[in-house]
Amino acid sequence: MYAAITLFVFMCLTATISADHHHPCHSPNMTGVMSVLSLKGEVKAVGAFTYDSMGKKLRFKSNESHPMNTSHGLDVLMFFEEGKFYEIDTKNKTCEKKTLHCPMHPLDIPDDAKFWSTINSGSASIEGEGLKLNVWGGSMPDKKGHYSMSVTMGCLPVSTFYFTESNSFLFTIMEVETEIKDPELLVLPSYCVGQPVEETPEGTVNSFLNEFM
Ligand SMILES: *[C@@H]1O[C@H](CO)[C@@H](O)[C@H](O)[C@H]1NC(C)=O
Ligand SMILES: *[C@@H]1O[C@H](CO)[C@@H](O)[C@H](O)[C@H]1NC(C)=O
Ligand SMILES: *[C@@H]1O[C@H](CO)[C@@H](O)[C@H](O)[C@H]1NC(C)=O
Ligand SMILES: *[C@@H]1O[C@H](CO)[C@@H](O)[C@H](O)[C@H]1NC(C)=O
Repeated sequence: MYAAITLFVFMCLTATISADHHHPCHSPNMTGVMSVLSLKGEVKAVGAFTYDSMGKKLRFKSNESHPMNTSHGLDVLMFFEEGKFYEIDTKNKTCEKKTLHCPMHPLDIPDDAKFWSTINSGSASIEGEGLKLNVWGGSMPDKKGHYSMSVTMGCLPVSTFYFTESNSFLFTIMEVETEIKDPELLVLPSYCVGQPVEETPEGTVNSFLNEFM
């Protein structure tokens, strides 16, 4: 236990020291649309998200009436700080509470990410035809994969790739507004309160990304 705490403090220190030049930024509060594409060619989900950057909460609800149709009726409320999340069924008023094993998600650059480059998407010389992006990357916590994140100069996420052994995913963030339009979406529905934590089968990893695998 003591060793673990020491190691953690040490890791935090090294992270701060090595990151003095380019430290990953943190995205603000946001409301927007997220699409999830498996690089095997499948649209996994398209839907609205609400993100509280300070409270580290994220709601994502797939939109079944979107033209890029996906039958995947997913509705999740993630509490990254508490390490818990809920899969919500608003129609049946039921929910499942689960333990989050990995806090990584496509809206926030991990603190230990490495700065890769600044790129100009589109044109840098034609007014209104370009987007300047900072690209960050790193390895997945289990080391069996990598991620790459592009954010605007104001730290709004544009896209995140996750390359894993079994499959790869592209998260695209669109229609971003830097406010929480409906704070209710980040409040646990009453029928979820007091829900016991579901047992996780041996070998399963729960994370935001795993919801799409
Ligand atoms: C982000 O949203 C949370 C929850 O509504 C709020 O407490 C916080 O002040 C907001 N942060 C900013 C910078 O607006
Ligand atoms: C779902 O998608 C449809 C069709 O694109 C759109 O009109 C609607 O506003 C979307 N709903 C939400 C909650 O984003
Ligand atoms: C969208 O998905 C639903 C559920 O799978 C299906 O019933 C519906 O026909 C699909 N719509 C289109 C336009 O593909
Ligand atoms: C939700 O309700 C529908 C019918 O209203 C039922 O078919 C379905 O099995 C229910 N789902 C769960 C997870 O209980």
